[in-house]
Amino acid sequence: MKFNAIASDCGISLKALVVNKDLDDTEINLTHMYNIVTIDQRQESKSKSDIFGVKELDESLGGAMRKGNVYMISGKTGVGKTTTATQFLVQGARVGEKGAIILTDTRGAEYVANAKTFTFGFEEYYKEGTIEVIELSDRIRELKEDVLESLKNRTRYISKLTGEISKIVVESRITRLVIDPITPMIVENDDFVNQFIMALAIPHTYILITSPVMKSDLSMFGIEEYFVSGVIKLEMEDPSAGIRKASIVKMRGGSYNPYPFYFKITSRGIVPFQSERDVKGSSIFKKIDA
Ligand SMILES: Nc1ncnc2c1ncn2[C@@H]1O[C@H](COP(=O)(O)OP(=O)(O)OP(=O)(O)O)[C@@H](O)[C@H]1O
Ligand SMILES: [Mg+2]
Repeated sequence: MKFNAIASDCGISLKALVVNKDLDDTEINLTHMYNIVTIDQRQESKSKSDIFGVKELDESLGGAMRKGNVYMISGKTGVGKTTTATQFLVQGARVGEKGAIILTDTRGAEYVANAKTFTFGFEEYYKEGTIEVIELSDRIRELKEDVLESLKNRTRYISKLTGEISKIVVESRITRLVIDPITPMIVENDDFVNQFIMALAIPHTYILITSPVMKSDLSMFGIEEYFVSGVIKLEMEDPSAGIRKASIVKMRGGSYNPYPFYFKITSRGIVPFQSERDVKGSSIFKKIDA
């Protein structure tokens, strides 16, 4: 491996080294000295099929979710978007990936207090800094006013916002980022949403956005779903029993299972739900594990 001191000074803001072995101490020191981010390919393949840490949901995805793309979880209020996104970060932390959630409409303290009520381990990863919680400041309103005034300002707005997001991701070495929900960051315009989502894609990082539903059954403006690489739609199946369903309605570049996955949200987080009919129809024999 060769380090080039000249390359480190030529104005490149992000220097990354893709590795597939453990670096020795000298190499680690050099990456720190030249501010080079290391990306471990082995980590990427290890976590490919372990996205949410919920076997049924991960299997439905069939390994189609890839780093470097933007994905969306859609659904009505209370259906479980934030919970699912939080489990995505916790699962990342379990496999050694740093994650962050950018909250655009909730106070950080409120989110943390709620996430701590689950027993899936959020608190521990949050305390050790493997999961970061970031609030969007009121400055977004000023910035957005410019765009609303004239769409001509959109390129400036998009590069400022996505530039700041990339900076957080690179500096904190985050490989799983959630924006919950995306709506306050965008405006209702096809070209804007297209440009924004394209700029949001960060190499070697999963970007997961959430969206409430309004103009379409997948998003607020009925535009977002066209530009993301995949959509997981959450719906209430039986509100009185708290049964929900998750369906993958789009997942570019992979074969996924389009049949819905039924679940409940308990203090353990997402818990697969097996209907009484399934239980009744199941085999009368039970194999005992060794
Ligand atoms: N600790 C917990 N134990 C059991 N259920 C919980 C717990 N915390 C939240 N829930 C349930 O999970 C549901 C889904 O909450 P979540 O915040 O994930 O929904 P959401 O889709 O993000 O909603 P919104 O659009 O309002 O942000 C809540 O309505 C609540 O019923
Ligand atoms: Mg939410």
